[in-house]
Order: sequence, then C-alpha cells, then structure tokens
Amino acid sequence: GRHILSVAQFTRAELHALFDVATEMKQMVSRAGHYELLRGKVLALLFLEPSTRTACSFQAAMLRLGGTCLTVADAGKRSSVAKGESVEDTVRTLESYADAAIVRSPVVGAAAAAAAAARKPVINAGDGIGEHPTQALLDVFTMREELGTVNGLTVTFVGDLRHGRTVHSLARLLSLYAVRLRYVSPASLRMPGEVLEAVAARGVEQSEHGSLDDVLRETDVLYVTRVQRERFDTVAEYDAVCNEFIITPKTLARAKETAIVMHPLPRLGEIHPDVDTDPRAVYFRQMEYGMYVRMALLAKVLGKA
Ligand code: CP
Repeated sequence: GRHILSVAQFTRAELHALFDVATEMKQMVSRAGHYELLRGKVLALLFLEPSTRTACSFQAAMLRLGGTCLTVADAGKRSSVAKGESVEDTVRTLESYADAAIVRSPVVGAAAAAAAAARKPVINAGDGIGEHPTQALLDVFTMREELGTVNGLTVTFVGDLRHGRTVHSLARLLSLYAVRLRYVSPASLRMPGEVLEAVAARGVEQSEHGSLDDVLRETDVLYVTRVQRERFDTVAEYDAVCNEFIITPKTLARAKETAIVMHPLPRLGEIHPDVDTDPRAVYFRQMEYGMYVRMALLAKVLGKA
C-alpha cells in the first residue's frame, strides 16, 4: 500500500526488502553522509504529541536524501488543529504542499483516518496507545544488526505493556518470526488482549509474568519501556506503578552474556544510567538505526525503492 499505518501490512519478504535498503542507507551515510535520491521532494510532519527521535530522524532521513521538510512547530498548540480543525483536513492541507505526511496523534486511528482522506502517502508515527509501526521496524532491524537473526530469540518486554504502542506494534511484527515472547508488567499494565490474540493466531509461544526473575535467564532481548505517565487518569495511579521494574547493573549481572537491552526511549528511571556503558546496552545505537530504516521507508513510499 501507499501508506504505512500498521505492522500488520508487512510480510517477511517486504520487511527484508526494506531492511536491505536500510542497510544500503547506513553504508551510504557512513561513506558520503547524503544521497540525492529524493531531491525536490517535500515531507510534511504533523506531530500533535511530543517527539524527539521520531520527528528528528524522519527530518534527518529526508534531508540526507536531498529532500526538504515542512512542519508547524508545536503543532498541537500552534497549528489550526488547536482551533478545532480535524487531522483529516490538516493532512489534506499539508499534502497540497508536500509529497507525503508523517502523523503523530494522541488519538488511536488518527493516522488511518488521515490516510483515508489523503491522496498522498501517510505514515503513522504513533497513534495514542494504538501502534508505532516505524518504531517496530527499526526495532527488528536493530535485533538483526546486533544479533544477526531474529529467529530463535526469546524477547522479553518489560514495563507498561498496556499503554506502550511500541510494544503493541513490535509483538505483532515479531510474530512473523520463530520467536518466544515474554511479557513482564505490573498487573494493571498487561499487554492488551487483542495483541495477545494476534500473536497467538500466528502460533508464536508467549507468556505473561509478574517478575523479571521468571524469564531473565532465557532472555536474548530485554525490551524495556517507560511507564506512560500521560496515559494515566491520576498521578496517584501512575505513582503506584512507575518504579516497579528498574534495570540496573545488578539485573544485567544475572542476564545472558549475549543478551541485548533495548528501549524505544525516552527513558525515565526504568534503566539506571550505569547500564549505559554495558556493551549489552544497545538503545543508543537503536535510535541511530531508526534513521536508516526511515530513509528506506521514505524511499519506498515516494516510489524510489
Ligand atoms: N521512540 C520514540 O518514538 O521517541 P520519540 O517519542 O522521542 O519520537
């Protein structure tokens, strides 16, 4: 399809074709820094929720491919969305000036609704607690870069699995592979039933746990997530669960030597900064891989890959 809205739209073959292009982009950036594949193309960014990585890596991806970006700074407050304009009309507006649009919204389904109204490609950069498909793509790319292959891995998700859209997308995407999935969370923040059902439908082994100790020894990828303060109704509900799982050097002392620690970032307190220097901590490289994957995605939706 024209749009990138959900990981459900990808087959294994399409993923690997995308990763081949991302690998070429990585080599090209390290060799030359830029490549004029999208010269003359314009990308619109509509971010109605905060972002550092997704917004900047899409912009950097477009700039390194010779294109340009347009954006309304602080769009949640300063675009006409603040006057009540719909995301659909906003994307119709942006595509009058641009060749594709990136949309992040607090509302589940917002990017899909915008895509249904759009003539040009729309990429979902996170829709509330729904999905964050481009993050899941860069996460799988990261596993392949760091561990060589995804098949055979035990991937353990830790933290706010209820609200974390990155884990919703990643669990679904990993179910294309022969993996084992482990979910460790507070009881009130478990993985949504619809994600568990989608994974089960592909025959992937999965299990839920209240303690990391249950699964740490078998874990190849420890995927840590932030407790999503902005999704809670009250501060008290957030405070009750925000510090339940904290990864420290002591945690890693009990993990496999070959394991890797990932995090979509931003982090708050859930990974202690002393973990950053452990060679198994790959979360800072993970965000760099995101730019290469987004370069490949832009080349794909703009018809150049
Ligand atoms: N991982 C991620 O989506 O980060 P940002 O919210 O900073 O874009």
